[in-house]
Amino acid sequence: MENKDFFLIKKCDGLRGEVSISGCKNAALPIMAATLLSGGKTTLKNVPMLSDIRNMSEILTCFGASITQKNKNELIIDTENILHTIAPYDLTCKLRGSFLVMGPMLARMKKVRLSLPGGCPIGSRPVDLHLKGFAALGATITKGAGFVEVKAEELIGTKIYLDFPSVGATENILMAATLAKGKTTIENAAAEPEIADLANFLNKMGARITGAGTDTITVNGVDKLKGIKYSIMPDRIEAGTFMIASAMTNGDVLIKDIIPEHIKPLTAKLLEMGADLEITNDTIRVRADKICTAKDVKTLPFPGFPTDMQAQMTALLSLSKGTGIVTETIFENRFMHVAELCRMGAQIKVEGHCAVVEGKRSLSGTKVSASDLRAGAALVLAGLAAKGQTQVFNIHHIDRGYENLDIKLKNLGAQIERIERTPLQ
Ligand code: EPZ
Repeated sequence: MENKDFFLIKKCDGLRGEVSISGCKNAALPIMAATLLSGGKTTLKNVPMLSDIRNMSEILTCFGASITQKNKNELIIDTENILHTIAPYDLTCKLRGSFLVMGPMLARMKKVRLSLPGGCPIGSRPVDLHLKGFAALGATITKGAGFVEVKAEELIGTKIYLDFPSVGATENILMAATLAKGKTTIENAAAEPEIADLANFLNKMGARITGAGTDTITVNGVDKLKGIKYSIMPDRIEAGTFMIASAMTNGDVLIKDIIPEHIKPLTAKLLEMGADLEITNDTIRVRADKICTAKDVKTLPFPGFPTDMQAQMTALLSLSKGTGIVTETIFENRFMHVAELCRMGAQIKVEGHCAVVEGKRSLSGTKVSASDLRAGAALVLAGLAAKGQTQVFNIHHIDRGYENLDIKLKNLGAQIERIERTPLQ
């Protein structure tokens, strides 16, 4: 069903107040997949209620898991009876993260068949590094028309070098290795905080993992993992999105229930740009009573500047003093927000992997469309700062990764309404 809902946003003269950040989507998705390894009951707290989470729940259920939602942000996932090993296309095509069930299902059920995850606007999203890791552990890979099947009677620990520190490949291989025979070493591994959260979760289940959060992770395989209780870490990208929202609207916002260490690359950049930040062990207060000064930004694997904050930073640079050059090194096509920002009066020129952003004194509201999750967030931020009113369409992209974004912004003084236009089914 084509989603016609949109956000109607009016200029905001400074967001003010406090916002509590939800659980991290990109930690919750691999952790939900990892529950397949236990064959028991797991309680997950601080789970953000997002469409991606609901879709992942449907995939686990179609394998045979039973999932109940206890409170608003609590899931109980029982994976005792996993009977099926094929996930249908109509489920896996909805979210890239669905591919994260491959490692746990291979380790638990010795085989799994998934449709290849669709590309998405930001890039082709290959899975070659995931499959290279499974093959190294002893799996047989069969590729068919739009699907891939992996099988292994037994997984044997080994040394795996990732050509690129892929977050998903690191997570998938890590999960498969927990039940492999012997020792696995993943070199040039991704070091994002979500990897450390997944490793913490797996170790609590009984796995033996060291080095998560560095570029070399070691796993000593065990025979069995058990269901546990666990709370998902806060979402560093949601936190960063609100930090930029405050800076863009010359606001004063206290961002709560976060781990400031996880968003340090953005904190450092905002300080360079002249924002005023107060940091405690679980909050960051962002004030910007003057226009920020433009700086260059280059996205890199953690601990570099996160690609998931690139679109939001490009929006901030559109309203900063001077010219900033944004270099996107992670994905091949992550500048879809640029055309929409230019329709709002931004002065941005894309040259290959770089966007040259010439700061303007103001943007003008108009109709714009979200092309993906973070581009959508960037357009909402631009709408808060733009003169007049802005309508952001395709907000289903935003609902994939932000829990109640409009409500949280409204509580900070924003004039934002969700206009429901999708005919009731
Ligand atoms: C995760 O995607 C996140 N998604 C992305 O967040 C995030 O942008 C990305 O990591 C980078 O931080 C989830 O965690 C669900 P990658 P993932 O594998 O795992 C290439 C958001 O907005 N690559 O690190 O797919 C790939 O093409 C989303 O929340 C291969 O070449 O990212 C890309 O250029 C967007 N072969 C680069 O690596 C592979 O086998 C980074 O991809 C895998 C990846």
